[in-house]
Parts: sequence; structure tokens; C-alpha cells
Amino acid sequence: MQEMFSNIDLSRLPKHVAVIMDGNGRWAKERGEIRSLGHERGIPMVHDVSDIANKLGIKYLTLYAFSTENWNRPKFEVDMLMALIEATVEREIPFMLDNNMRMNVIGDMSRLPERTRKSLEKGMRVTAHCTGLVVNLAISYSSRWEIVEACRNIAIEVRDGKLKPEDINSDLFSAHLTTGGQPDPELLIRTAGDLRISNYLLWQIAYSELYFTPTYWPDFTPADFCEAIRVYQTRERRFGKTGDQIKEEKSQN
Ligand code: IPE
Ligand code: IPE
Ligand code: MG
Repeated sequence: MQEMFSNIDLSRLPKHVAVIMDGNGRWAKERGEIRSLGHERGIPMVHDVSDIANKLGIKYLTLYAFSTENWNRPKFEVDMLMALIEATVEREIPFMLDNNMRMNVIGDMSRLPERTRKSLEKGMRVTAHCTGLVVNLAISYSSRWEIVEACRNIAIEVRDGKLKPEDINSDLFSAHLTTGGQPDPELLIRTAGDLRISNYLLWQIAYSELYFTPTYWPDFTPADFCEAIRVYQTRERRFGKTGDQIKEEKSQN
């Protein structure tokens, strides 16, 4: 464990890391197995990556588990994923409680089968008091869905006289997203080699560092997570300023 941390500057960790956990299907296919086996084999990585993020002291971990677009997959695969989510939530609750980790679901829960929704609601309820890592599970989530919801809710508040149109600004909009109150991810990791965002956290990743790795999710280890953080720490984040300005600011601190 200590060795894994040795390449990381613990004083400059991201507060929020987002992950697109991709490649389960290809992992299985390469082994001549059905896609669902890949999903099953990806579960321990969810546990291990959450554990390492919590141990590092990262505050928020947002995991893309099932997108709005994933509802278009074959029914068998969707049913299996929902069952897997239920079973995993039940199994992980004691671990999360022991480790002070809070479960939070972002996504359109109204579309979930009742059993899946109930298990996620239970996970959120029983870990609500935990003050360590917040694990945001993006389930039935897409960024455009979330942005449209935020717009609708803002419009309702304006209609009801709770808000004036001139009150609408970037901070207010952020607060109406499912990640309201959380810092934007400094780092976004996508496994399995595809170079796209797939409708994930479009607003929140406006200035995130992007890290793509060819490793399939079921092969992604805590050491790979630490490597992503190490690479993140080599990036110069300029936020529109010049490199010289950033160096000067650093030398003044
Ligand atoms: C990611 O793996 C998990 C989900 C989208 C639920 P995929 O199932 O997308 O795996 P590939 O991309 O087909 O390999
Ligand atoms: C994105 O992966 C969603 C999740 C990882 C849950 P997909 O595999 O669904 O993305 P696309 O369709 O290849 O862009
Ligand atoms: Mg995929």
C-alpha cells in the first residue's frame, strides 16, 4: 500500500475523481464469455478503487455505472446489471459503514426497477451520517438529462417567485445539478481506451484533467488508480492563464 502512495504527492490530491468504468463487455468477449461475466468481474474493482480513494483522503469519487443510453441495451443485460447493482449495494453497506464512506446516487432513479431503487435508497439512508469518502454512483445518469432537470427546477423556482432570472449564474446552476455542493472533479479517468465522454458530467468536467487508459475496467487496480493520480499531478492546470503566470503564482505561495 505504502509503495503505491510513494509516487503521489499526498498534499496535492484531487478532491473529486470521476471514473467512466468501461470495457467490461470487451474483457469478457476476449475470454469467450458473455458480457455479463465482465460486469460481474468489474465489481471487485469498484470496491478496491473506493477503498484506495478513501484511504488516500479523496473526498468524492463519482463512478459511471449505468448511463441513460445503457437502457437501450438488450433486456437480459440490463436486468442482470440491475440485479448486480442490488447485490453489490447489499454486500458493500457493512464495508462502507466500517470505513465511514457515504453512498450517494446520481441519476434518474424513477426509471429503476423497484428493488434496485429500494436497495440504493437504503444504501444512501444508512450511510448518510458517514463523513469520509462520498461515492457518487451514476446510475441511469446522463449529463444532458441532469442539465435539463436543473433547467426545469430553476424555471419552477422562477415561476413560483423564489428566484429572479437575474439571480441565475454559474454557481446557482452548479448547485442545481445532482452534484450540487460538491467540487467539480479535478480528474476524470476513462478505462478501456475509447476517447469520448459518453454524456458524463459535461458541466462539471469543464476544466478537469482527462486520463484515458487502455486497461479494461475488470483489470483496473488500485495501483492503476494511483498512476492516474500521479499523471494528474504532472499536469499544469492553467485555467486560461499563461504558463508563466502559473509559475509566478506558485513561487509566491
Ligand atoms: C461498462 O462496460 C459498463 C457499462 C456500461 C454498464 P461495457 O459494458 O460498456 O463494456 P464494453 O465497452 O462493451 O467493452
Ligand atoms: C459509458 O460507457 C457508460 C458507463 C461506463 C456506465 P458506454 O460503454 O455505455 O459508452 P459508449 O456507448 O461506448 O460511448
Ligand atoms: Mg462500453
